[in-house]
Amino acid sequence: MNPTAPDTKSPAYVSRLRCIQCGNVIDRAEQDFRCPHCGDLFEVFYPGWQVDRGTATGQPPDALKQLWRDRKFSLSPADTSGVWRFRELLPQLKAGHEPITLREGNTPLYELSGCARSAGVEFLQAKHQGMNPTASFKDTGMTTAASFARQEGFRWVACASTGNTSASMAAYAARGGMCSLVLIPEGKISWGKLSQSLDYGAVTCQLRTDFDGCVRVLNELVKRKPIYLLNSVNPYRIEGQKTAAIELMEQMNWQPPDHIVVPGGNLGNSSALGKALIEMNQLGLIPRLPKLSVIQAEGANPFFRSIQEHAGKKLVPMQAETLATAIRIGNPASWKKALRVIETTGGAVEQVTEVEMALAKAEIGSDGVGCEPASAVTLGGLKKLVKRGFVRRKESVVLILTGHVLKDPEFTLRFHRGDLFTGTPHEKDASVLARQQRAPLVLDASVEAVAKALEQFEDQSAQ
Ligand code: F0G
Repeated sequence: MNPTAPDTKSPAYVSRLRCIQCGNVIDRAEQDFRCPHCGDLFEVFYPGWQVDRGTATGQPPDALKQLWRDRKFSLSPADTSGVWRFRELLPQLKAGHEPITLREGNTPLYELSGCARSAGVEFLQAKHQGMNPTASFKDTGMTTAASFARQEGFRWVACASTGNTSASMAAYAARGGMCSLVLIPEGKISWGKLSQSLDYGAVTCQLRTDFDGCVRVLNELVKRKPIYLLNSVNPYRIEGQKTAAIELMEQMNWQPPDHIVVPGGNLGNSSALGKALIEMNQLGLIPRLPKLSVIQAEGANPFFRSIQEHAGKKLVPMQAETLATAIRIGNPASWKKALRVIETTGGAVEQVTEVEMALAKAEIGSDGVGCEPASAVTLGGLKKLVKRGFVRRKESVVLILTGHVLKDPEFTLRFHRGDLFTGTPHEKDASVLARQQRAPLVLDASVEAVAKALEQFEDQSAQ
């Protein structure tokens, strides 16, 4: 680590775990990461932070910002990681333990001018977490949690996944010399993601169930075997995922946007980004809180329904169904954490149909950025938030794109060929997608044939 960094043995760097329900405080969780008293989740907290005095580690906010900026010129692995560069706001590894890092984070913030027009806002940006080493946002949390797994001496790590967590976990386990076990729902994850976990050497089990069924099996397994659980109930994952929000604020010169919009599945990511925003605000790093809103697919909308039907008081698990397989989740583990974020930041929860999501994905592609289907619910949801007046035209908005466009090429190809919704209940609504579709043209290998295709395209666009 950076020899000029402050003394991480000081009390300001101590972290502990606190149950979000009953407040039980512990230093080391059981293997299922559930509170032994009430069964709820833990979160990391930092008893040494002097929140009321606006400092985390004894340094004023400006000194911390300068320290993080200076690390960009360092060559050490921890400093070139876009996660560990912000380690003052993370749990510390013990002396002699290095982080397992693939130089995650450091992801771009893009302006989306076409999408801004279609959503009805003047200025829209996207932070593309799909530009991480394994092409999804999961890497920022995996570097922290996998490093803690290795520090604790585990040989095996495991997760249940819709494909991105498993790809990320398998990579970090391999880098850290650990074995990994992946439980995924059979036939319901994209080939790209499945192939990643195979390539990184995971023992990959396709279970005849959905994501929620995989979670149930794994929660029992970790109670019986010495396996370290790397799902987002693991609070060390949440801590690493916080850094996407810290990096975003740095990219915006510490002036928060009015709104941040995030896709919601198991609800770990919205919890993490919100935790970071709240902590940054408490520590005087940002002057106010952006509103953080969560968007779900209509067929996998238990959180949306919890807010609509039960005022967030309870969540009723459901059988989830959506082509955005990454967020095909009916019983999100972190819903209480996400609810707290929505309430504290004043954000909203929305849902989008399959067709709205598919259209939004094509529009993000047309801006030259691209993303996987689950990420595109953010733009679809933003359109609705603008329509209902929650987001105003002049307000600044950042979408969090969670996965790379190449994660699910089958969805993209079927969209452009026009058969994505064939034989589904959405077929009728899908006619609005025609103007975005660009099926590949099969032509004779002649200049004339290609020139004619070009002319036809120009004619159609002029109409
Ligand atoms: N976007 C993508 C691309 C995802 O892979 C996920 C979740 C989400 C959004 C939702 O994030 O669960 O934190 O609310 N994927 C998990 C997985 C469940 O196993 O890869 P969340």
